[in-house]
Formats: sequence, C-alpha cells, structure tokens
Amino acid sequence: MKAAADIRLLKADADTCCALSVLHGAAFAPQEERQWTADEFLELMQTPSIWTYGLYLDQLVAGFLMLQVVAGEAEIITIAMDPKWHGQGYAKHLLNYLHALCLSQGISKVFLEVREDNLKAIKLYSKAGFVKKGVRQGYYQKQKGKPVDALVFALVIDSIGNS
Ligand SMILES: CC(C)(COP(=O)(O)OP(=O)(O)OC[C@H]1O[C@@H](n2cnc3c(N)ncnc32)[C@H](O)[C@@H]1OP(=O)(O)O)[C@@H](O)C(=O)NCCC(=O)NCCS
Repeated sequence: MKAAADIRLLKADADTCCALSVLHGAAFAPQEERQWTADEFLELMQTPSIWTYGLYLDQLVAGFLMLQVVAGEAEIITIAMDPKWHGQGYAKHLLNYLHALCLSQGISKVFLEVREDNLKAIKLYSKAGFVKKGVRQGYYQKQKGKPVDALVFALVIDSIGNS
C-alpha cells in the first residue's frame, strides 16, 4: 500500500458522519459488530462530553477515535481504522495524539473496554501502555453464539509522558 502523502488529525464535525459510519461498518465487519449509522454518529458528536477526532489521509477520513471525557478522566468509546490502511501505524498515531491531548487538557486517566477476542486491539493498547484492570463477563452480546467478555484497560497519564 502506498503511504499517504498528507496525514492530519482533526476534530470530526457533522459533515463526516456518513463517512465515519461507512468506516465503522468496514472496520468492525470481521467482528460481526453492527455498523453505527450516520444519525447515531451525529447524536454522539452533539454530546458535549464526547470528543471525536478523525485521522485524514490525503484529505479523506481513514480512521477515528471517539472519547467521552468526564471529570478529568476519559473513556475510549471506540477507535477504528479503514481496513485498507491497517498495519501501517495509524492507530498508534491516534493513541499518541490521545496522549498529547490528555496532557494538554489535564486528563489524568483513560479507560476502555475491549472484546477479549480482539487480539489486535489488545496488543495495540498494551503497547501504548494500557494495563488490564478487570473483566466484564458476557459484556458483548452476539447475534449468534455465546456473549464475549470485555477486558477493562486503563492508562494513567503522567506529565513526563511515561504512562
Ligand atoms: C485495532 C485497529 C484500530 C488497529 O489499527 P492499525 O492502524 O492497523 O494499527 P497499527 O498499524 O497502528 O498497529 C499498532 C499496534 O497494534 C497491534 N496490531 C495491529 N495490527 C495487528 C495485527 N494484525 N496482529 C497483531 N497485532 C496488531 C500491534 O501491536 C501494532 O504495533 P506493532 O506494529 O508495533 O506491533 C484496527 O485493526 C481496527 O480498526 N480494527 C477494527 C476496530 C476495532 O477493533 N477497534 C478496537 C475497538 S476496542
């Protein structure tokens, strides 16, 4: 895959809802997760505590990070990259951006939940310094088969940058 010439991280606005919905569907299809609609994205993005950042490659949105920020702590609602850009370090780039954002906004802790069978994401978070804190049994309901446990991860942000 040819590397993108231009990489930008921007706060996503309402105009990107359709593109984010398509991207979400493509990224989560292998996990058989329901695609979030453009209206659902719009509603989430209109919530003041929810912050959404798009990663734009050559002016097209290729990934995103959605957070909920409450009382100085953030929860990653989701992170996804368009499958055609997987494995090129862009999700890592989004998490580096998150770290810098937390430092600049005084956010001291980041949480997330991840399916226990989502090994790529678990590796991504572990490499970014997140530490497993617990398990929520049967948290993810599937259309077929048994529910899947969620692993809870947390990252403490320190001002030195080593978390
Ligand atoms: C998880 C996801 C965001 C990773 O995006 P990506 O841009 O491909 O990830 P990167 O290229 O930045 O890789 C960062 C790290 O993730 C891990 N990783 C990425 N792809 C991997 C793979 N195929 N197998 C194992 N680990 C992988 C590695 O630790 C990698 O670091 P390394 O290359 O130094 O070993 C992407 O696979 C995705 O969109 N998945 C579907 C949505 C999803 O599951 N989101 C998480 C919800 S909790």
